[in-house]
Amino acid sequence: MCGIIGCVAEEPVAGILLEGLKRVEYRGYDSAGMATISGSRLAVRKGAGRVSAIEEARGMSSMLGKVGMAHTRWATHGSVTDENAHPHASCGELVAVVHNGIVDNYISLKKGLLAKGHKFRSETDTEVIAHLIEDEYKRTRDPLRATLAGVKKLRGQYAVVVMFQDRPDVMTGARKDAPLIVGVGEGMMFLASDVLAFIGHTDRTIFLDNYEAVEITKDGVKIVGPDGKRVKREPDQVAWELSDATKSDYAHYTLKEINEQPRTVVSASVQDAGKVERFARAIRKAKSLYITASGTSYHAGLLMKFRLNKEARIRADVVVAGELKEHAEFLEKGSVLVALSQSGETADVMEGVREAKGRGVRVCSIVNAAGSSLARESDEVLLLNCGPEVGVAATKSFTAQVVVVNLVVDAVLGKTRPGGAEELSRAVAEALKCDGLVQELVSAYADRPDFYFVARGYESPLALEGALKLKELSYIHAEGMPASELKHGTLALIEKGTPVVVINPSGPNHAESLANAEELRARGADVIGVSDVKDEVYKHFVRVPKVQPKFTPVVEAIPLQLLAYRMSVARRNDPDYPRNLAKSVTVK
Ligand code: M6R
Repeated sequence: MCGIIGCVAEEPVAGILLEGLKRVEYRGYDSAGMATISGSRLAVRKGAGRVSAIEEARGMSSMLGKVGMAHTRWATHGSVTDENAHPHASCGELVAVVHNGIVDNYISLKKGLLAKGHKFRSETDTEVIAHLIEDEYKRTRDPLRATLAGVKKLRGQYAVVVMFQDRPDVMTGARKDAPLIVGVGEGMMFLASDVLAFIGHTDRTIFLDNYEAVEITKDGVKIVGPDGKRVKREPDQVAWELSDATKSDYAHYTLKEINEQPRTVVSASVQDAGKVERFARAIRKAKSLYITASGTSYHAGLLMKFRLNKEARIRADVVVAGELKEHAEFLEKGSVLVALSQSGETADVMEGVREAKGRGVRVCSIVNAAGSSLARESDEVLLLNCGPEVGVAATKSFTAQVVVVNLVVDAVLGKTRPGGAEELSRAVAEALKCDGLVQELVSAYADRPDFYFVARGYESPLALEGALKLKELSYIHAEGMPASELKHGTLALIEKGTPVVVINPSGPNHAESLANAEELRARGADVIGVSDVKDEVYKHFVRVPKVQPKFTPVVEAIPLQLLAYRMSVARRNDPDYPRNLAKSVTVK
């Protein structure tokens, strides 16, 4: 859950690193740091805080050298302090490392290193890597061999980038269960946790596989497998552009990404028909079908289950990714696992996918990041095509997931050309006009301690999604549930003025949800209706356009996303970087 960028170039790298570091800051933002080598001197500047604050306090932009690496941290082992920020140097300052992941066996490794006389300066698990590689480098004087030998002693997950004080011409890296990508530029080479880190400099990438190690120079890449044997791999071109990774004129990435949705629901719908059909065929033929994902992607998974059950009469179990291993005995040969993930790197999802693959299950994934671990390890892949999502809150990726899920379910139902994307795009643009009304809601309820979201049937996952979005961006306690559940406990919490969002499109459940809204009003709640039809029970009403029933979650998501975003801004939070969170959850 940390952001890494390393670069070897024929020009000074500090500016390049800083620019890249800011673009991967969404991966973690507790601390930041940079190391460069200039004139055989290793310099490290780092501290606790956001990149811009550390840049200002430590003057990272003035660091000299044509080789360097930078890191933005999401703390796991060791509190958020200057000492625990990366990079970490070995005691002889011969080696410096940055790391994303968790070293499970760091305590025993540290004991062994201390016994050998190594001195530790931080409380992190990462620091052992620097000392281990230093020992190997003293022995071999070969950066790549030393890196490979060092990481072989680690248990856990790692994407690690290493610099050697007496070798300013090279940088090494290695990975297991955390992403590490080579960016192949002209006179500059990168190692990064994310394509966004170097997207302005090159769009040519090589994704490392688990247990591989790499050495880069300013114009060369050497990849080796765990046995040290050379691996040949040509770079791929990524479709993302620099403009995708900037805020443009928006105050925040989150707002930009919310407003991109009229376009991204269309781009998500542009899929290779053959791939969609293969995906659908796998579902049709599955002995048993499981869907897995985390957070917002899980909500998209619930929507998929609903349509598969109701319309295709296919039974599917949806399991939160982190819990999938508890049900592993049901994952058997002939089963299919559908995995949904924006990042394609979520540790819980990857663990479930690997468990399933190991049991002979076919994995079909819906993912945004091409080249991600999930995309590479799946049997069938459909991409969301919605461009990079930088805001920690999933917004455009959720609506893109709904679009792709619908394409798959339609194909399962034999509808190969469902259409409707342009109409949906217009409806999303129309839904975005509710922003003014949402801001009035924010003025009325920004000080409330609790919010509730309810819905029925196909919309129920939207209640969960509305609550999740509000919690993570505004830090207001929020709960989402099927409206039918209210009377089984939660109604006891409703008092005068409690805001309750009722998501209630016209359709089979409309009347029952209205009855629930009446029950809420009778107990003093301020009912906020999100629907295509107004009703006097709603104290506030957010109209969303009427669309085909399968697309209602897309238009309903818009006011829920805006509510969370505007609430975050009103409460002086940073919507792009909500506290304690990170975009890509690569630890379990
Ligand atoms: O990259 P993924 O879709 O696998 O991420 C899953 C969750 O971590 C993610 O959806 C998270 O819940 C979002 N911050 C919600 O807005």
